[in-house]
Amino acid sequence: MKIPVLLLCSAVTLTWGVAVKQSRKFPDGFIFGTSTASYQIEGAWNEDGKGENIWDYLTHTNPAAIEDQSSGDVACDSYHKYERDVEMMRELGIDSYRFSIAWSRILPNGLANNVNEAGVAYYNKLIDEIVKYNIEPMVTLYHWDLPQRLQDMGGWLNPLIADWFADYARVVFDRFGDRVKYFITFNEGAQICYEGYDWVTKAPRLNMSGIGEYICAKNLALAHAKAYHIYNDDYKPTQGGVCGYTIAVSSFVPLTDSDEDAYAAELVNQLQWGLYTDPIFSKDGGFPKELFDLVAKKSAAQGFPRSRLTDFTEEEKAYIRGTGDFFGVNHYSGSFASASLYTPQPPVPSPKDDIEIGQFAPDDWPQAASFWLKQMPDSIYIVLKNIQKRYGDVPIYITENGWSTHEGIEDEGRVAYYRAALESALDALDEGINLKGYYAWSLMDNFEWMAGYTERFGLYEVDFEDPERTRTPRKSAFIYKQIMKTRTIDHDYEPESYVMTIDEGH
Ligand code: NOJ
Repeated sequence: MKIPVLLLCSAVTLTWGVAVKQSRKFPDGFIFGTSTASYQIEGAWNEDGKGENIWDYLTHTNPAAIEDQSSGDVACDSYHKYERDVEMMRELGIDSYRFSIAWSRILPNGLANNVNEAGVAYYNKLIDEIVKYNIEPMVTLYHWDLPQRLQDMGGWLNPLIADWFADYARVVFDRFGDRVKYFITFNEGAQICYEGYDWVTKAPRLNMSGIGEYICAKNLALAHAKAYHIYNDDYKPTQGGVCGYTIAVSSFVPLTDSDEDAYAAELVNQLQWGLYTDPIFSKDGGFPKELFDLVAKKSAAQGFPRSRLTDFTEEEKAYIRGTGDFFGVNHYSGSFASASLYTPQPPVPSPKDDIEIGQFAPDDWPQAASFWLKQMPDSIYIVLKNIQKRYGDVPIYITENGWSTHEGIEDEGRVAYYRAALESALDALDEGINLKGYYAWSLMDNFEWMAGYTERFGLYEVDFEDPERTRTPRKSAFIYKQIMKTRTIDHDYEPESYVMTIDEGH
């Protein structure tokens, strides 16, 4: 039976009302943090022996690709200002800080024959400063900044990259694993593979539509598994940490209650994240079955002698299956999904053409500064339920969640977004979902990839005109601080002033 879109939307809109369950508390041991990534904040792009990466290359050779023609050359200058960053973490009172390591800062040409000790020293200083204040470091090994030398050799399309990545991972575990107990191999597989090798919206911007993403997805899974096994076999026994994987998961809801729309939402889920996480977290391993069959069928009809999505061998499947101690979710938004919303569009082949599903986000959902970001009611709850349904009780961390604005300290939109998101997380916790922590994106404004500095995600505003890159807390910083301190969400709380101080014990 078809439900009219408007009726459905108003039913969903009613759930905005969850807002006021003030007595609920986040459980003891629940981790609150903030996230950043190396290229987006560090700057010092060529200092102290750092090698060039694909974002250095893109922004220097094709500045017009970035909305404001900017780059991460200086960004927040965290390479020099990391002590201020840690001070901000203490002001907020976070339990944990998620950041990434720039591969080309510690291995300038990407390969492990040449370790740049100055780069290692930078991360040692940062980690020491973090742990000094009892803040738990969570380290992402790869947040999109591939050494350009490895890109020249094919990047994520060259199967040898699994070994290159594993060698790099070993250096990271070896040098930092004594203090770092949470590792994430990859940040957002689809954004690495689809956007980088299919859709030209992220470096290296290679347009290999319908082919590039699938080759990359396979190599990424193997690279992840190699790094995981190295950690598990050689480091975990003495270092005692965990190693997970982070993926972007949006909430896709069937447009109506028809079987066709349920299947449509399932296919979008398979393409957006199952392609990357089923090999690791599903019971049987391997790529999602419906998607796999569909691409094989389409490839045959298009005259390809073999499927554009190459399967794993049984041995590879077994090697990859089970290689995740936790599931990291980057969550921002969602939409309704249905084949009836699909309008065919070039290029063909493409992953979008493979599944032929369209999406829809109602106009009355609040809109962020980023065109792709709308506030969907209850979306964290929906996402976490989807993950639980797919993979059972795997431990989950929300490794990113946030809202973009333009410049300005009064960020009511972000405040509303965070409050609603955390209520939704509490709804999931109430139902026993194994959610262990939540990281706000981001600690401060930073280089927002193709949008440059035109979209701001920070709890702290950064003045990019100022050589000092002064950081100033926004209203949302005070609200998030209060939530972390009290472990509850008080929707009426207003900061008395915008003067930030460090509370005792931080
Ligand atoms: C996810 C990415 O991991 C991060 O780098 C980016 O800035 C945020 N989304 C916001 O777009």
